[in-house]
Amino acid sequence: MEVRIKAENLTKRFGDFEAVKNLNLRIFSGEIYGFLGPNGAGKTTTVKMLTGMLRPTTGRVEILGLDMAKHEIEIKRRIGIVHEEPKLYANLKGYEFLNFISEVYNIEEDKRIEELCEAFSVDYLDRYISDMSHGMKQKLILVSVLMRKPDVLFLDEPLIGLDARSARILKGLLKKYASEGVTVFMTTHILEIAEKMCDRIGIIHKGQLIAEGTLEELRMKVESGSTLEDLFLQLTGEKEGIEEVIREL
Ligand SMILES: Nc1ncnc2c1ncn2[C@@H]1O[C@H](COP(=O)(O)OP(=O)(O)OP(=O)(O)O)[C@@H](O)[C@H]1O
Ligand SMILES: [Mg+2]
Repeated sequence: MEVRIKAENLTKRFGDFEAVKNLNLRIFSGEIYGFLGPNGAGKTTTVKMLTGMLRPTTGRVEILGLDMAKHEIEIKRRIGIVHEEPKLYANLKGYEFLNFISEVYNIEEDKRIEELCEAFSVDYLDRYISDMSHGMKQKLILVSVLMRKPDVLFLDEPLIGLDARSARILKGLLKKYASEGVTVFMTTHILEIAEKMCDRIGIIHKGQLIAEGTLEELRMKVESGSTLEDLFLQLTGEKEGIEEVIREL
């Protein structure tokens, strides 16, 4: 299997604070990789380094066999990114934004764009982006990324704000694309989704990858019969005291 995403000794420091510590990852074609971790663990920082948005303090990133430090433009042309807090051009209308992306990436398949809009009920392309709700913007971004058919997809909390139908369609599409060889790297706090969708899971805690593997492999690390939620809370050491906290508040 082809390695599509490779991180070698990746570290990010903000001043004295180490947000990501010596991270090593290898993710293959056709794989859906779930990157989990508590708030502030370093997920978004990692996604930004893997997608060339943020320069690592030390370490290396290779995407599709290309070194990020040397081939940033080529890599960005071939990957799709759905950011946690996307910055969109607020003063464009929806269709102007999609036209802009089509031109930048030389996309001629209007039919695919139409189909994606229909699938996600994006029937508001004549509105200004500034006037769209959070979920409406999220769906517009998804269309703009999926219409390019990237070989590698990075999605930082992609399901937040999506309605039930759109969420199901997105999950189905990601599964289908992965079965066709696309690599999906996604962060999520929704452990049920990670459980159902991901071939492998990595758990980051305080900047360090503390566990990685298939669900079965991770389960072997903790008590039998655990849900991914139990497992997650145990591995991140956050299981203790939850009941007391609830009782006392
Ligand atoms: N530009 C920055 N300057 C300083 N500190 C930062 C910066 N960006 C992130 N951090 C810190 O790095 C740590 C990791 O942040 P990050 O956004 O990667 O977390 P996360 O795992 O994505 O969390 P969440 O689940 O809340 O999205 C946090 O402590 C955050 O405060
Ligand atoms: Mg984040």
